[in-house]
Amino acid sequence: MEKLIIFDTTLRDGEQAPGFSMTVEEKVAMAKQLEKLGVDVIEAGFAASSEGDFEAINQVAQEVKGCIVCSLARALEYDIEKAGEALQPAERKRIHTFIATSPIHMKYKLKMTPEQVLERAVSAVKYARNFTDDVEFSAEDAFRSDRDFLFKVIEAVIDAGAKTVNIPDTVGYAIPEEFGQLIADIKNNVSNIDKAIISVHCHNDLGLAVANSLSAIKKGARQAHLTINGIGERAGNAALEEVVMAIKVRKDYFNEVYTEINTQELYRTSRLLCRITGSFVQPNKAIVGDNAFAHEAGIHQHGILAHRETYEIMRAEDVGFPRSKMVIGKHSGKHGLKARLEELGYKNISEEELNTLFEKFKMLADRKKEIFDEDIEALLLEEMKDYHYAKLLYFHVLSGNGIIPSSTVKVDIDGQEVVATSSGDGPIDSALKALEKALGITGRLKDYTIRSLSAGKDAMGEVRVVVDFDGNISSGRGTSTDIIEASVKAYLDAYNKYLAKKTFMEKKITEGI
Ligand code: KIV
Ligand code: ZN
Repeated sequence: MEKLIIFDTTLRDGEQAPGFSMTVEEKVAMAKQLEKLGVDVIEAGFAASSEGDFEAINQVAQEVKGCIVCSLARALEYDIEKAGEALQPAERKRIHTFIATSPIHMKYKLKMTPEQVLERAVSAVKYARNFTDDVEFSAEDAFRSDRDFLFKVIEAVIDAGAKTVNIPDTVGYAIPEEFGQLIADIKNNVSNIDKAIISVHCHNDLGLAVANSLSAIKKGARQAHLTINGIGERAGNAALEEVVMAIKVRKDYFNEVYTEINTQELYRTSRLLCRITGSFVQPNKAIVGDNAFAHEAGIHQHGILAHRETYEIMRAEDVGFPRSKMVIGKHSGKHGLKARLEELGYKNISEEELNTLFEKFKMLADRKKEIFDEDIEALLLEEMKDYHYAKLLYFHVLSGNGIIPSSTVKVDIDGQEVVATSSGDGPIDSALKALEKALGITGRLKDYTIRSLSAGKDAMGEVRVVVDFDGNISSGRGTSTDIIEASVKAYLDAYNKYLAKKTFMEKKITEGI
């Protein structure tokens, strides 16, 4: 078996996509996590492109010792010098230089003849060798390049000292079979190819980046350029977590290669990137999406409970997923509901209680797309009818950039109206403080997310909070076209669930269950 080198370009190709830019500190934090994940090469940026990129590469080069640190550089002396300078502190450094080889790029973008491009490619590689022995060359838009010209360029850059030759499908145009064939053709037509590693870099414009990368690996590529969550230019790059897990799960098929990725760090790495960029992956995203290990249909849940492998090809633990989350939705059966309740600690539910609960649950599932643990708990607890609900009656917020924000909140607690006021750091802070005063509690807000449920400035906002009440973690959700109201509702929701659970537990304890 040969090792597949994992070249991570989250901090370069990924970061250059709109909405994914990172500060120097964020890039360093991400690089440290990538080191934990066990990637072989971190492309930390494009040193000549900006001061920030230069600084980030330099910092990563100082702080990350477990991986090769790399900088991108056009086939220009200035870029290569900048890359060399930024990488100076690295224990192991690589310069990745590139120039386009496709007719369309050479004619319209570079305005160079193929001969000039060939000459530039060779001189760039030779120049980069003055800074490091580890030089990678990319033939940008390789897939749309004339094959004979591409073979000629690859052969020449290997002779000039490139240790890795990267074959990008820059515009995401290739189909897996064709891309795999290109790698096979390179192996058969480039006389000195055994002196270099063939790498691939696939874009996802047709949703084929992972499939193309895997096809290339099957045909002999031994390095893949990948990004966490598949971020990158336009539709992104091949997702690291997907390529790595495909190789691991299907080792019977990819039996020529292995990776040294610590797959249990995949989920954490994905989450860190989401937190840093503020851009979350879709719930159904393979490997790291919220639903990746969730089984909603009753028949699936029943199967999983009987024998996990009926519907699961990998374990949530293998990718560091917190736990196999069974989302309870309208297709869930009674088995799934009971199992979930047991996981949540409600083990003494009678058959009768379960039947009533299941009916209510189905009714709720018709109204609500996703049902969270707390919703099921709330349903169960509703059955008890003896816990207090606090309801929002009214709120008023005064805010602006020249005044201290203040809020008044009026709530109904168990039939009693309570009013409280507070100032705060912002309108939401002051509203939540006033609410806490009215409720007579202090929670610790552990997480707060807000998103729009649809398009338009008048869209509904959804707020989700996670609050720690006396060591009990409770989450709540609130929606409104007013984000302050959504925030207050979410906090109140979390509080009600906490209170209901507490009352239920106390009752069970007094009943001796
Ligand atoms: O997509 C591409 O071709 C690139 C190169 C610079 C490798 O990102
Ligand atoms: Zn790219």
